[in-house]
Amino acid sequence: MTGEVILEGAALTKAFGGKTWLGKSSVIRAVDNVSVKVFEGETLAIVGESGCGKSTLARLLLRLIEPTAGEVRFEGTELSALKPHALRTLRRDMQMIFQDPFASLNPSMTVGASIAEPLALHGIAPARQARREKVRQLLVQVGLPPEADALFPHQFSGGQRQRIGIARALASSPKLILGDEPLSALDVSVQAQIINLLADIKARYSLTLVIVAHDLGMVRHMSDRVAVMYLGQIVEMGPADEVFAAPLHPYTQALLNSIPAAHPRFRSAAARLTTEPPNPASPPAGCRFHTRCPHAKAVCEETAPARDPALPSREVACHFWKEIANAGATPLQDAEPSKNFRRRLDLFRSRSERQSTTGYSLLDKASMP
Ligand SMILES: Nc1ncnc2c1ncn2[C@@H]1O[C@H](COP(=O)(O)OP(=O)(O)OP(=O)(O)O)[C@@H](O)[C@H]1O
Ligand SMILES: [Mg+2]
Repeated sequence: MTGEVILEGAALTKAFGGKTWLGKSSVIRAVDNVSVKVFEGETLAIVGESGCGKSTLARLLLRLIEPTAGEVRFEGTELSALKPHALRTLRRDMQMIFQDPFASLNPSMTVGASIAEPLALHGIAPARQARREKVRQLLVQVGLPPEADALFPHQFSGGQRQRIGIARALASSPKLILGDEPLSALDVSVQAQIINLLADIKARYSLTLVIVAHDLGMVRHMSDRVAVMYLGQIVEMGPADEVFAAPLHPYTQALLNSIPAAHPRFRSAAARLTTEPPNPASPPAGCRFHTRCPHAKAVCEETAPARDPALPSREVACHFWKEIANAGATPLQDAEPSKNFRRRLDLFRSRSERQSTTGYSLLDKASMP
């Protein structure tokens, strides 16, 4: 199902400079030498705790910020070489959806005007009537009634606003959509609806999706591959089913262990993230995870592990991943706790299939005209 590399970050670094409150200068390498490929037609999830650099990496990949070092290539073209006009065309192809769709919508503009904005900007449907028609089609495609175009953002629920954000992103017929925590602000039941909607539009428009999330459980059933970040670096990357079934990096194991289990029986004694991550301005020497790792040895304090190329489909940066795997420390059973979530997702799927003829029956109609 996946094809060529569509988007690639090569040795990306982003350093933010600043001064501490004591006046000392400090530099945070929010993204530190990260290389990542996104394949056409896949859903790549980028996960990790708050502050590990997910949003910074996302913005670098869309060239919303300039890298301190490294390159980004979209369909083989290096982005820093692009002239403003070419960059504008590229913006059509790569769109973003946000955690808080309310913040990304202008409260004083009707939803129709908000969705029409990228259409006008990119010269798609320049005639007013055609633009209006296109907006109404987009609304239906994201499961909202076409009449929603005359309403204002505050008249919608959180889930509906996320649908509007998705319609806006779809307006320019992009090839890739990047969602920065697009589910985090939503109720669990609404998350399942938005996951279904993303899967639906991905299939319908042959899109590539990059989804940033701090919760592995959330992206589990929607991603083809997962990249796990820790303090500005990718520590593990691979096919989602493999990573969830047998996480190799102790940090991934700990992240999976933090997903609330359906039953205490499912919880294992493997690493848990009970402590706060270290200050990103002065990350630990050697392996950055060693201060929280239950398997750390002397070498981990001194030498940063390189990604082990031994595994064809997986990348893992840990000195001892083989020993840990052989010792059976992977919390395989813990990968099961989201059975409940999967059941809910299936339920929504079958429900939305049944209701797809009406288009917007999953809506909270109370706020509709
Ligand atoms: N513009 C900026 N100036 C200075 N520091 C920044 C800036 N943007 C991000 N940082 C720092 O870079 C690090 C990574 O931030 P980033 O927002 O990428 O993390 P994140 O993984 O997206 O976190 P979250 O899950 O909370 O959204 C953090 O330590 C943050 O404080
Ligand atoms: Mg973020």
